[in-house]
Amino acid sequence: MRADVVVGAVQPGSGGAEVAGRVVAVIDVLRASTSIAVALAHGAKAIIPFESAEEAVLRSKAFERADVRLAGERRMRAIPGFDLGNSPAEFTRDAVEGKTILFTTTNGTAALLSVQGARDVVIASFVNFSPVVAMLRAALRGGTDVTIICAGRERQLALEDVACAGRYVRAIVEPLPGVVVNDAGRACMVLDQRYGAHLNELFADAEHGQALAAAGFAADLDWCAAIDSYPVVPIYQERQITKLGPERER
Ligand code: MLT
Repeated sequence: MRADVVVGAVQPGSGGAEVAGRVVAVIDVLRASTSIAVALAHGAKAIIPFESAEEAVLRSKAFERADVRLAGERRMRAIPGFDLGNSPAEFTRDAVEGKTILFTTTNGTAALLSVQGARDVVIASFVNFSPVVAMLRAALRGGTDVTIICAGRERQLALEDVACAGRYVRAIVEPLPGVVVNDAGRACMVLDQRYGAHLNELFADAEHGQALAAAGFAADLDWCAAIDSYPVVPIYQERQITKLGPERER
């Protein structure tokens, strides 16, 4: 069995070999993955990812306005006319319970939309670490390979995503020593060793962490570092993300 890490969105020319038939975890720690977990934990009905703000607005017209929330960011800031930005703190129960969230972010939603042909796609972060690890381990035990995709930033490696991926790989592989890990996965584990116990340092060293702090979003970093604070398993299926619950057990 294999547990591989891919850095950046799945490349269009790759034929999807990294993800075909696999269970795929998409990580965008700062902040899309974290905000998705918070929204679902607070009762959002579903989250639909879009590449562009225009597509999200167009789709909103198919809903009663009260049933949807337009959410997302460009250059970290809320999109003009949208209800919510991309700060996990904005996805309160009051704001999202029972609502469908039409969501577009710079890197996170693009990485998610690049995954085609996977068996299952799950959204992973620090805040929902343990339940996602349990799902990935179950996949390997059941004979399905796993791929972890680090969304990165502007198509570049993002330190926080690869360190988080390393934490996942280590946790998955420890009880399953026969699992083969690619070089990217091994490099991620080294970064987890360096930063895993010091997530504040991780975000302070990471370019995206620095940019968020400079833009006034320093408080978001604490949300994104709170391991297991929102223990949900967000599953992306049939163009929408919902919470894996008893009715959608794998
Ligand atoms: C993204 O998807 O690019 C990020 O979540 C950006 C952000 O921090 O808002």
